[in-house]
Amino acid sequence: MNQHKWTTPEIRSKAAEILSRMSLEEKAGQMTQYDWGFNPINPDTGLSQRDVIIDQIAQGKVGSVFNLPGAEQANSLQKLILDKTANGIPLLIGRDVIHGYRTIFPIPLAQSSAWNPELAGKTAAASSREAQTDGVAWVFAPMIDVTRDPRWGRIAESIGEDPYLASVYAKAWVEGAQTDDGPGLATASCPKHFAAYGLAEAGRDYNTVDISDRMLREVILPPFREAVESGALSIMASFNEINGTPACANRYLLTTILREEWGFEGIVVSDYNAVQELITHGVAADEEEACLLSINAGLDMDMSSGIYIRYLPKLVREGKVDERLVDEAVLRIIAVKLKLGLFEQPFVTAIASEYATESSLPPEHLSLARQSARESIVLLRNEKETLPLSRSTASIAVIGPLAKSLQDPLGCWSFDGRPDDVVSLLEGIRQSVGSNTAIHYTQGCDVESDSDAGLDEALETAHQADVVVLALGETYLMSGEARCRTSLDLPGGQRKLAEAVAALGKPVVAVLITGRPLAIPWLQDCTDSIVQAWHLGVQSGHAIAEVLFGDYNPSGRLTATFPLNVGQIPIYYYRKNTGRPPGGVYTSYYIDSSTDPLYPFGYGLSYTSFRYGAIRYEKQRISKDEAFELSIEITNTGTREGEEVVQCYIRDEVASVTQPLKKLAAFRKIKLAPGETTTVSFTISESSLAILDADMNLTVEPGHFTIWIGANSSAGESVRLTVEA
Ligand code: NOJ
Repeated sequence: MNQHKWTTPEIRSKAAEILSRMSLEEKAGQMTQYDWGFNPINPDTGLSQRDVIIDQIAQGKVGSVFNLPGAEQANSLQKLILDKTANGIPLLIGRDVIHGYRTIFPIPLAQSSAWNPELAGKTAAASSREAQTDGVAWVFAPMIDVTRDPRWGRIAESIGEDPYLASVYAKAWVEGAQTDDGPGLATASCPKHFAAYGLAEAGRDYNTVDISDRMLREVILPPFREAVESGALSIMASFNEINGTPACANRYLLTTILREEWGFEGIVVSDYNAVQELITHGVAADEEEACLLSINAGLDMDMSSGIYIRYLPKLVREGKVDERLVDEAVLRIIAVKLKLGLFEQPFVTAIASEYATESSLPPEHLSLARQSARESIVLLRNEKETLPLSRSTASIAVIGPLAKSLQDPLGCWSFDGRPDDVVSLLEGIRQSVGSNTAIHYTQGCDVESDSDAGLDEALETAHQADVVVLALGETYLMSGEARCRTSLDLPGGQRKLAEAVAALGKPVVAVLITGRPLAIPWLQDCTDSIVQAWHLGVQSGHAIAEVLFGDYNPSGRLTATFPLNVGQIPIYYYRKNTGRPPGGVYTSYYIDSSTDPLYPFGYGLSYTSFRYGAIRYEKQRISKDEAFELSIEITNTGTREGEEVVQCYIRDEVASVTQPLKKLAAFRKIKLAPGETTTVSFTISESSLAILDADMNLTVEPGHFTIWIGANSSAGESVRLTVEA
């Protein structure tokens, strides 16, 4: 079914009927969204911003608000509309529900490491459910910007570096967030940021983006296309410029691609104040010009600047803006409101309130949070089978600045989450061991400062123990929007702490609680095991403890390459060959560093081992429109049950334009008991074989293809397939 054509004849005619009754001011009002959380006092009038918003709502001049404090406020604003305005068009109430509402799930980068899009869809649905209890009908998620730069703080919110994986997650997330349980119980998703925001130069947020049309269409746009095809009801235009034109003024993106090529029927909203920022970008001289550029580009709703309501009516009356553009935008906004059932039920319903989380979090959401957290964890290193830890260990030292933290595991964009709901790593370990195991804790050092005041105590604590668990990482304020770093080392005194503890010669396990991949090759010399645990949300400590003690066999795989050093960035598996021959001096390499990453895309260890058999296939030659089936036997050769993410990559060996050495084409997550064998099959069809040719046509070019099946992007056996002319 073509879900992206979601408007029905009824929705369209109802929207047109409402539009026919609206004044120009009311139309511009629908295209205006305000931030309720931003409430300065105007020194000239003495009025607060909220006073102004309320007044405008009463006049039917506001289409959407976001950052409301809860159900009471939401209901009172919806009632104001019904009481005061002739057309009674309900507000679309938005919120940044990025990885949970009250129940905070792992950051999206972590959730992608689970390679379980279905699970992510469930967390998105649960998050929407909770948000609805406060009147939210529009979640500003998923964030599907492909990024290859861990310096960029927003990598935490992303699905990682691969366009295929991001597309699969985009679909699941949109469908999950838009689970429609009836009027007043549906939320619209808002895939963002359209487009190429994740390619900000030098990993610095909001920075310039200069990108070829090829890269845009091969790497950046596929997740958005998938989100649109999955029925996303809105899209957010990004802050950044793309090749000289900021997204909100970019007609090529917002109209040519989104509307004309893809047939998108939903709302395009700007990012925060981004219409106003056209002036700072230097493409608009003043607010009036910013308004003109945005409406002509195809931007339907202005987030927070108020420029549309201030200038659109005037510009239409002066004949500078075609009223049809305004009408089309308003029709789309009203259509979304109709689709969500807001006209029938603008208020928070009793059913929605069942998910209210005032006192405790819903048990089914907690168990989802735990499953999501455990599946997000990636085991990066495990020498001498240090992990899993034995429950008969007499004494464990838990040392590090992240061990007790309740705030940091919530990660970025968690303002509706509460630290009190979080299980810290220390607490998770404590609850997981019996009375025969003593747990000794000390903080050891600080994330923000390099003071070594706690070092002696840390060494003493470690000295008493049989094994040391180091809880290291980044605070929740070190990733997310505007949280970029130039160093990807462990901040503060953490390296000194790890090196000093390592010198004692005890078994050392490092747990990395971070919002991004770090460049920490030295940590391998200080530890026997490294567990990448991300910012995992409310169930963090329980999930990590399950992995540490082997109650859960880690199954996460990296979705963003871990660099060896910052100088390698951008580093990603989906790279091209260059023309240089291998070996010798004049080849593509560094004189002071390896070109290999610390850990590649798709990488992660398990407590068991898997044997990959030979790849089987029936035909070696296919015609262009035929599908190619291949299969492989995977055996669990270890002694524990375990999950494996079987990954399939493809390369078009010779094409009319250069191709990446490998592209992820498919994957399957399987669970095997010890000694069990299963057959995993993949179908390679046109969508995996096709490339954008020199004329930018999507086409399958005849010739040879290599197809790998393996455990990560650097592993696996391959077969050769020939596509006949
Ligand atoms: C700016 C962020 O870029 C965007 O992701 C978010 O949805 C808006 N602010 C609203 O908070």
